[in-house]
This record gives sequence, C-alpha cells and structure tokens, in this order.
Amino acid sequence: MREAYLRDALYSIGDAVIVTNVEGRINLMNPAAERLTGWTESEARESPLEQIFQIVDEETRATLESPVARVLREGAAVKLSRRTVLVRRDGRTVPIGDTGAPIRTATGDIAGIILIFQDQTAARADLRSAYQAREFAENVIATVREPLLVLSRDLRVISANRAFYQMFRTTPAETLDRPIYELGNRQWDIPELRRLLEEILPQNTHFDGYEVTHDFEHIGRRTMLLNARRVQHSDEFILLAIEDVTERVRAEQRLHLHLRRLRALRTIDRAIISSLDMRAVLDILLEQVTLHLHVDAASVQLLDPHTQTLTFAAGRGFQSLPMQPMTLSAGEGYAGRVAFDRRLLFIADLRQEYPETFTSPILQREAFVTYCGVPLIAKGQVKGVLELFHRSRLDPDQDWFDFLETLAVQAAIAIDSVALFEAMQRSNAQMVLAYEATIRGWAQALDLRDRETEGHSQRVTELTVQLARAAGLSDEQIAHIRRGALLHDIGKLGIPDAILRKPEPLTEEEWAIMRKHPDYAYMMLSPIEYLRPALDIPYCHHERWDGTGYPRGLKGEQIPLSARLFAVADVWDALQSDRPYRTRWKREEALEYIRSQAGKHFDPDVVELFLKVIGEEPSSRVP
Ligand code: C2E
Ligand code: SIN
Ligand code: SIN
Ligand code: FE
Ligand code: FE
Repeated sequence: MREAYLRDALYSIGDAVIVTNVEGRINLMNPAAERLTGWTESEARESPLEQIFQIVDEETRATLESPVARVLREGAAVKLSRRTVLVRRDGRTVPIGDTGAPIRTATGDIAGIILIFQDQTAARADLRSAYQAREFAENVIATVREPLLVLSRDLRVISANRAFYQMFRTTPAETLDRPIYELGNRQWDIPELRRLLEEILPQNTHFDGYEVTHDFEHIGRRTMLLNARRVQHSDEFILLAIEDVTERVRAEQRLHLHLRRLRALRTIDRAIISSLDMRAVLDILLEQVTLHLHVDAASVQLLDPHTQTLTFAAGRGFQSLPMQPMTLSAGEGYAGRVAFDRRLLFIADLRQEYPETFTSPILQREAFVTYCGVPLIAKGQVKGVLELFHRSRLDPDQDWFDFLETLAVQAAIAIDSVALFEAMQRSNAQMVLAYEATIRGWAQALDLRDRETEGHSQRVTELTVQLARAAGLSDEQIAHIRRGALLHDIGKLGIPDAILRKPEPLTEEEWAIMRKHPDYAYMMLSPIEYLRPALDIPYCHHERWDGTGYPRGLKGEQIPLSARLFAVADVWDALQSDRPYRTRWKREEALEYIRSQAGKHFDPDVVELFLKVIGEEPSSRVP
C-alpha cells in the first residue's frame, strides 16, 4: 500500500527519478527519467545504473563516478558536480543537476539508492549568458579609453580600468575595495562629487556631463567631465566615467579670451576713428590695456622727436599722479631704456632690481612689483612707450605678450594718426592767424590811403561786431562779418587818388567810378575761398533799405543782414570823421542823421538795435 502510493508519486513528479538496489541495479525509473535518458523503464530494469545513467564532465568528457558508489561510501545524500552532463541513449548530452540519497530500511540499513535529477539546459544557458555578460562588461571597461570606475552602492571601488590607473598614476592595490573618497590622498573627496553621488544620483538613474575642476594629485589642476550611471544587477552598482576635458576647456577659454581681445581692439579702433583727441584715445587704450592684460596700472609716455624727451601723456591705476618729463637716454629710467633699445622690457620682480628701482620714487611709492615697457613704433619711428605695472608678481604666458604687442602696434598707430591730425590742426590754426594778420594789414593800408580815415576800419568793425552780437548772430557768422567789415572798402584800391582824395564834391563821372568800389571788392575777394563768406559787406555796404543804393539797388531784406548792420556803423563813423571834402560832424548831428534815415537808407530795426547798442533812447527817433 505504502509502496504503491510512493510509486504513484514518483511517476507523476516532473523531476527524473531512478531507484536502484544496493548493487546499483535499477529497480525503478519514472517517465521523466525515461525521457531524459532515452531508455524505457522496462529496458532499464535490472541493468547496472552506469549503463543507463552515464554521466561525464561537461568539459573534459571524463566519466564521473557513479552516484551510487558515492552514496554507499558516504552513507548520506550527495550532490553531483555542477558540470555534470548526462549521455543519453542516442549519444546526445544533457546538462543535469542531480541528487542521490540512500533508501534505508526500518532497521537503518541501506536498501537502495534514489537518484533525482533535472534537465539543466535552460538554467546553464542563463548562467552562461550571465557569465558572458559580465565578461563583456569587464572587456568594455578595460577597453574604454576614458577612465572608468565601478562603485558599489556604498561608493567603494569594485573595479577600475587601465585608463583610470594610467591617468591617475595609481594601482589596483591602492584602489580596489576602497571608498572613492579615500583614493589618491583623498583627491576625489570633492564636495561637488559628494553631492552628485550622494544626493543627485540616488534620485536619478544617471547624471551626465558634470564638470569638476580640481587640483588632482600627480596631474595637477584638471577639469574632469563626470558621467555616472546607476546599474541594477544582482546588486546595485554605479558606473562612473571620467573624461579629462582640461584641454578642451582651455581651448574654449582661449577662444573666448581671443574674442574678448578682438573686441578690445575694435573698441580702440573705434576710439581712434571717432575721437581725434589724443587724451581721449589714450584713456580708452589704457582702459583696455589694464582690463585685458590684467595689470594694476598703465601709462603712455610720448616721445618728442626733436628734444628726444619722454613726456607722461596718460595714466591709469596710479595712486599718485606722475610725472615730470624725462630726458631720454640709454639706461635712464625703464621707459628711456625701452625707447632707446626699441625693445620690450619685462621685469617680473622689481624688488630684485634694487639700484634702479630706488632711482624711481614712483615705482617705490606705488609698490609695483612687475614692470613691462613696450616701445610704440609707427612708420619705423618710436612714438612713445607703453608701460604696464602690477602690484604683485606677474608671470604671463606667450598669449599675453602677443596681445600686448598687438595693443602696442595699435597704440602706436593711434598716437601717430592723432599726432598727425593735431599737427594739421595746428598748421591750420597758424594759417588762420596768418590770414587775419594779413587782413588787418590790408585794412590799415586802406585807411592810410584814405589818409584821414585813420582807424576807421577798426572802429566800424568793432561796432559792427557789437551789432551782430546784439542781433544774435553766431560766432562763425561774426568771424566772417569781422573780416568783411575790415575789408569793406578794399574796392577803393581801384579808385584813382584824384577821385578818392578830391577835396570837393564829385562830378557825375567821378561818382560813376566811385560807385564801382563795391564791384571791385567783389572782383578782388571772390576768388579767395577763405574770404568768400565775408563778401556781403564789401559788396553790399552801399545798398539802401529803400532800394536807392548801389551797386545793385537791392531793397529791404534782399540786402544781407550783415551789410545792413554794417551800413549804419560805417555812416555813423564816417560822419564823425574828417573827409577830404568836409570836416567831421558832431555826435548829435550824426545821431540825428542815422535816426532820420531809418526806413530810407537804413533798416529801421537795425537803427533801433544801433541806438540800444550805443546807449541811446530809440524813443527820440524821428518818424
Ligand atoms: P566814405 O567817406 O567812407 O563815406 C561812406 C558813407 O558815409 C557814404 O557813402 C555816405 O553814405 C556816408 N557819408 C559820408 N560823408 C557824408 C556826408 O558828408 N553827408 C552824408 N549825408 N553822408 C555821408 P557814399 O555816399 O556812397 O560814399 C562813398 C564814398 O565815396 C565815401 O566814403 C567817399 O570816399 C566817397 N565820396 C562820397 N562823397 C564824396 C565827395 O563829395 N568828395 C569826395 N572826394 N569823395 C566822396
Ligand atoms: C573767430 O573766428 O576768431 C571768432 C570770431 C569772434 O568771436 O569774434
Ligand atoms: C584776431 O586775430 O584778432 C581774431 C581773428 C578773428 O576774429 O577771426
Ligand atoms: Fe564804401
Ligand atoms: Fe567806410
């Protein structure tokens, strides 16, 4: 009864079961065992186990010891090696897992052996693929060119690749199984990395492209790009990929630096173009120099080519303002030496150059440490010296010097072009002065020729300028009026002495000639461009408000305002002067005459203005 029950159970379970007697001959074999071995129970019964249940090592193919023998020897349940494969009846093999156990009688003697085994094809494949996956991962880690760390959940290093050991000059012994923060003199104990690994990563499956700039042991200050991934496997671990992007970051920074410097050059260019004031251009130059070369102070000394002296022209960043003009000669002062040698002079530490520094109280007072002087050379000539000062030691790279040189070239061009412009302006101003002197000379000559009109031109000019100011004319218009007034009777040069100095009234013919003097003035002055804007008075000063004047008979506001203003001043002064043909009038008579001619000879508004200017009441004006 009990045996039958047992039998039913054995025949219905999924595992293969074989039962043998103590000699190892088969008593029982369930259907699962039949399927696995390829033998039927009836064929197998009474056969030695080894014949039906042939097992070999998976790899070596060596026959393995029968489990029956082992169970009998050890008297207890045994497990087969994990590498066991069963050779089926048809010669094919099946990986199996297997347990053998003794069957004991009531008295405890071994009555037989029961073998329970399973087809492990599927399970072994899983195992193999897991193994291969691991091998693959390790190969990947080993071959990735960037350093890679595999960390456990508690941030210990499980694995690191060759690139890691190479980059950080360390060994597996110093690395494996240690908390990442303790590696390499705690060089990875970086607050940002702690935050990433302990705060950010646990809430995300990964973080990418995180930049850390840090002073690493052995390799110095580097910028590392970190990528981390949380990987869920049998246990959780963290892949940390490290990429040294220092060079790339530096290249980017250099690019930005160059862009900033280009902009600085453009700023200076614009200053040169838009301002022709030396001071303003130098101020902008020095602003850019201190900003982009990162120095505390800078100055420009200009070289006077005639005296060979350097003069302080502009400075920035000095606590006390220099400087007296310095005489340039070899070895006299740093700037003098730079200009003389036409070569850049760089002194990283002035404190080590005592004798010379002590001769320069400025350098001492300002506590400068680094000095750099550059000659400013344009068209092959030294125009000046650009000097840079820094209150701590500077150790600039080649880039810095290159940029300094570019700035120096630009500064030299700026100085040259501004100096050129200033020279031109100076010569222009000198020319204006020369003209004015010439004009005054002409006016005096004219007065002399008129003999008794001495000082007339000067006086009418002053009065006319006063009237013009009162009329609100601009300084520029007044400058032309002044010249026109001085030259108003220049046309009389064309009038023969016989007429000009005639002590009697003029005949009709003489008058016809005399009335030509404004046309003569026009002919004489219009070819001179400088005097063309001053022509109105010489040409129109005998026109009359009512249209009865000459040479053209202009009327009212057809007559240029300057000529209307001038006419009043001219007659006012002429009447009070002796003439070859009459003696001077009294002031009251002249005044009465001017008033009487308002609206006839003169513009009535000008007469009113005139009366105000000479301090007379317009109310007494005769209508
Ligand atoms: P001017 O002597 O310099 O006089 C300038 C203007 O002042 C004259 O322009 C006239 O408008 C006014 N003026 C000068 N003297 C008198 C005067 O005694 N009475 C009056 N009412 N107005 C006077 P105008 O008349 O066109 O004369 C132009 C220039 O012709 C004079 O310049 C002078 O050089 C000359 N001129 C005018 N009249 C005579 C004259 O009788 N004999 C001579 N030799 N020259 C004369
Ligand atoms: C000038 O051209 O010198 C200015 C004229 C003036 O203001 O009188
Ligand atoms: C002067 O030289 O007296 C000034 C010249 C001018 O006013 O244009
Ligand atoms: Fe005249
Ligand atoms: Fe006159």
